[in-house]
Formats: sequence, C-alpha cells, structure tokens
Amino acid sequence: MADALDKTALEAAYARWAPVYDLTFDAVMAPGRRAAIAAAERCGPTILDVGAGTGLEFTLFASTSNVTAVDLSEIMLRRARDRVLQKQLGAINGVLVMDALRLAFADNTFDSTLAPYVITVVPDPEATLDEMWRVTRPGGEIVLVNHIGAEKGLIATFEGWLAKHAPNLGWRPDFPWARIGGWIEGKPGARLIERRTLNPFGLFSLVRIGKGEG
Ligand SMILES: C[S@@+](CC[C@H](N)C(=O)[O-])C[C@H]1O[C@@H](n2cnc3c(N)ncnc32)[C@H](O)[C@@H]1O
Repeated sequence: MADALDKTALEAAYARWAPVYDLTFDAVMAPGRRAAIAAAERCGPTILDVGAGTGLEFTLFASTSNVTAVDLSEIMLRRARDRVLQKQLGAINGVLVMDALRLAFADNTFDSTLAPYVITVVPDPEATLDEMWRVTRPGGEIVLVNHIGAEKGLIATFEGWLAKHAPNLGWRPDFPWARIGGWIEGKPGARLIERRTLNPFGLFSLVRIGKGEG
C-alpha cells in the first residue's frame, strides 16, 4: 500500500536531514540499533542492513559480521562510506545505493535482514517486507526497530496531526502495528518471534519476524 511518502519526497527529506542527522538521531535511537543488531547477529554473520542512512549502526556490528548496507539516498550514504573508511569498519563489506523495493540480491542470500528505523519511512512498507523476506534464508529473520503509532488517546491524536507532515519529516509518525501484523498474517511461513518496547521511554519497538523453521 503506497502513499504520499513517495521516493521523490523521501530523497528530498533525507538530503535535508543528512547534515544534521547524526547530531539529532544518534544517542536517542542507539538502544534500538543495539538491540536489533544483537538479534540479527544471533541468526548468523551474513546481514543485509536496509536503509542504513549515515551508517550510525555500523560501529555496533561485531568485526566477524559480514554486512551489506543499502539506502535510497546517495547523500546519506556518502556519510556512511566516510564512516567505514575513517573507523576502518571491517564488518561492512558493501555500501550501495539501492531501493529496498528492488533488492538486487538472489533469494535466500542473508541470515537476517535488518531495518533500523526504516519500515515507517519506505514508500511501500508491505512490498519492502516482501523483498526483505525474499532475500532472507529459511530459518533466518527480518529484524525491525521503529516507533509504532499509538492506537488511541492524546498521543494518537497528536500523531494523526503530525502525519500531515510526513513528506517533509521523511517518516510516518502514525504508523499502526496492523501494517506489520497484517503482513505477517498474510505471509505463509512468517511468524512473529518477538515484539518488545525499548528505551527511551518505550518510544520504539523491536520486532523479529521468523522465516519458516520454527
Ligand atoms: C530514519 S533513517 C534510518 C537510518 C539508519 N538505519 C539509522 O538507524 O539511523 C531512514 C533511511 O531509510 C532510507 N530509505 C527510505 N526509503 C528507502 C527505500 N525505498 N530503499 C532504501 N532506503 C530507503 C532513507 O533514505 C533513510 O536513510
């Protein structure tokens, strides 16, 4: 289900965010990145990092991991590549401009596919999950971290209001759990392994989806 957060709006939004992204989103979203990477690494070393942005998560991977990172935004990825060079991050084997809707990898390539703070951003979350599923091996996992929108109350009202600004923000503040839950229900072989809230203040959730074997 695509909507107003289209590819052009996203590229423009993240070109604006790129210079200030690390300053704004490093510490506050670090616990989620750490939890997601720990879960991904438990599946095995071969990991696809979808929507890697400026690569804030890169330093958190074990040196034994074998990570391919992709993102739509060339401007965000320039910073990610600089980070790999400056910090000599041996775990990161490729940093590629690529649309998550058309991943240029064979079926069943990765032990896990990881998307920290991405699924509420992409133009078509369900089609993105389909692609992540395709390239994850049987027995592997899709690992997501995101803010899941409130279902009722003041916060839900506020998020609904903020959602009008999604194209400028570059994400959907009102993303409901039903979009992920509905996708899992509709995908034969998919199962929810874990959904838990994370710091700070339970603002973000870790979601692990198993592919077959379970
Ligand atoms: C909020 S940032 C998250 C970056 C990083 N994972 C982090 O934890 O800081 C979302 C990223 O998703 C990327 N993105 C959005 N749509 C995409 C798509 N269709 N394919 C690949 N990347 C996409 C954006 O360019 C942006 O860099």
